[in-house]
Amino acid sequence: MFTGPERPRDSGRLIAQVKELAELLGPGRAGWHFAEWLLSQPADPPGSGTWVPAVCRALAEHPPATAEASTSGYSAMGLSDGEWQLVLNAWGKVEADIPGYGQAVLISLFTGHPETQQKFEKLKNLKSEDEMKASEDLKKQGATVLTALGGVLKKKGQHEAELKPLAQSHATKHKVPVQYLEFISDSIIKVLKSKLGGDFGDDAQGAMKKALELFRNDMAAKYKELGFQG
Ligand code: HEM
Repeated sequence: MFTGPERPRDSGRLIAQVKELAELLGPGRAGWHFAEWLLSQPADPPGSGTWVPAVCRALAEHPPATAEASTSGYSAMGLSDGEWQLVLNAWGKVEADIPGYGQAVLISLFTGHPETQQKFEKLKNLKSEDEMKASEDLKKQGATVLTALGGVLKKKGQHEAELKPLAQSHATKHKVPVQYLEFISDSIIKVLKSKLGGDFGDDAQGAMKKALELFRNDMAAKYKELGFQG
């Protein structure tokens, strides 16, 4: 369900169309951000009676990743100072055991979405969860991922320099679709919840989800620049 801000003025048809789009593409996708941005405007943008339905149709006809990248300009997903504080506070706890968290995140990713494991030459032959747990390579890769992600999060959205090489390698070399980035984001939330329990409450979870969404959106925009449809 779309739960973005309602506009003060009544423009029922426009809002209905935007909501429909947001629900179609789902939270964390272009439609969502576009809808949030649009609904937060004090007045209907000029000519929106025609272009809003057109944009809605165009977004709906494209695969979500493409649509997401194409509207990254509406990255209205900024986090407040308080939200960043929640994110970095939780991350401080992750940093006490990066390999342990990294291992848990990758095992959750691979068991939940086995196709993701096939992207890793060095890890794709690990068959059972026990084999995954025993693998030093997996632990090392988990630590690599979380260390890089920590570097991104600490920039509180000003992460262009950190994101660029990551987007480049993941688009052109590893060929990792945006959907897999969504899967790993879910795994990260899941692992933090299970390891931190009450120390990772609803507010912190919400803030972390937003930060990961921002990361993904900006990766998707870079993917598009690089011609990778992700
Ligand atoms: C939070 C998201 C992620 C971060 C921060 C991240 C970070 C990294 C970093 C820092 C490297 C090493 C340097 C490089 O090649 O750029 C790497 C390598 C790699 N990543 Fe990611 N990654 C993420 C998600 C994923 C996902 C979801 C997949 C695939 C399902 C993936 C597949 C790969 C592969 C195949 C490599 C090369 C591994 C090797 O050297 O054998 N990454 N990643």
